Amino acid sequence: MSSSVIDFSAHRASVLTRLANDEAMLLFGGPHHHRNADCEYKYRPHSDIFWLSGWRQPEIALFLRPGEKPFVIFCQEKDEKMEMWTGYRPGTQGAISDFDANDAHPYDTLSEKLPALLQGVSTLHYNFGMDPDLDGVLMASIAKSQRLSRESFAATPETFRSPSWLLHELRLIKNSAEIATMRKAAAITAKAHIAAMGAAEPGGNERQLDVLIDYTMRNNGAIGSGYTNIVAAGTNATTLHYIDNDQPIDDGDLILIDAGAEVGYYTADVTRTFPANGKFSPLQRDAYNWVLKAMEASIAACTVGTPYTEIHAASVTVLTEAMIALGLLTGSIEDRIADKAYKKYFPHGTSHWLGLDVHDVGTYVRDNASRLLMAGMVLTVEPGLYIPIDDETAPEELRGLGIRIEDDILITENGPDNLTIAIPKSVAAVEAACQS
Ligand code: GLY
Ligand code: MN
Ligand code: MN
Repeated sequence: MSSSVIDFSAHRASVLTRLANDEAMLLFGGPHHHRNADCEYKYRPHSDIFWLSGWRQPEIALFLRPGEKPFVIFCQEKDEKMEMWTGYRPGTQGAISDFDANDAHPYDTLSEKLPALLQGVSTLHYNFGMDPDLDGVLMASIAKSQRLSRESFAATPETFRSPSWLLHELRLIKNSAEIATMRKAAAITAKAHIAAMGAAEPGGNERQLDVLIDYTMRNNGAIGSGYTNIVAAGTNATTLHYIDNDQPIDDGDLILIDAGAEVGYYTADVTRTFPANGKFSPLQRDAYNWVLKAMEASIAACTVGTPYTEIHAASVTVLTEAMIALGLLTGSIEDRIADKAYKKYFPHGTSHWLGLDVHDVGTYVRDNASRLLMAGMVLTVEPGLYIPIDDETAPEELRGLGIRIEDDILITENGPDNLTIAIPKSVAAVEAACQS
């Protein structure tokens, strides 16, 4: 069994060995955000910062450049008074002793220190547009660095590259420790979904399942959910980003739950749809099995060398056939795919990268074409069928039905490895979990 201890220094080394001597990377973590008045949200580190350093506190910048001091941290300095209110800060000393920085400076000295650090850097990997204030600090520092160059004759940044060019390509391919961590997130997510299936009942409320999921995840060691849970009963399941999770559950409802545990800041992303009363109606079962069939076709496409778009194409084909069979569309499968009529009932994509971010980094396109799947990528497969309650063109008994099923798939040389396979999915397994 591989260790799930993430080796941040190995992540940094993988970036540094790919940077030329005149290249550097500058990354900022986000600030604290207020929820309302002076109440703060819990801080969650920026995934790029965490992947490169393991740093968890706000107000942080990392500067990476091959050479004598390849890893420089700017961070909040230690401050006894502030730490009494908001907790431990590693400070600049901790940045060096505990986070292996070659040098560290207080965060509020960025404008002062950056111009010298940028001397000799002609290409800077930096994400413009995330924070206009920080963009301003950088541009002023470059201007200052250019003035220094009149005497030093050193290069200053002229070429800028998005972190997607190098950093996010590395984050896209998960190593064994990351995969082990994602397996833990998947295992805790399984417990949460199974608990919700067992607890749901007509007469209850979505809220009860929402808290049960949170409780089960955190009680089993997860940080919490990696994104806001969706607990949608009945018609609410046709609202794709429904997060109110506070409505009654009725007899005959299907309940759609999209929830994934976050472990070590890596998240699972799983959806299950199940009958509130423990038994699918014949019509619900029929529609559910079509979505399951689409999912199986898409998972089968998750093989090394397959274009990413094939995953979606497989679900589109099956679900368009389903829409015709269920009386939602007419005509041939080919025609309804060609005129995109299927989008009325399956409006979203089938897949996205998964990792530290639920919609993880990494481009979907290479050389002006869909990129090919590689071992170590992790992605979701999540076909769905949603029939609006007010769709008068749909058979009446289907109106208000929302079904999505979502698993997390690791691409391997031996085919798809379904990380979330333990979560009940067949009609029989789901009904058994609901009735237990
Ligand atoms: N839970 C977000 C998504 O499925 O993409
Ligand atoms: Mn999801
Ligand atoms: Mn997803």
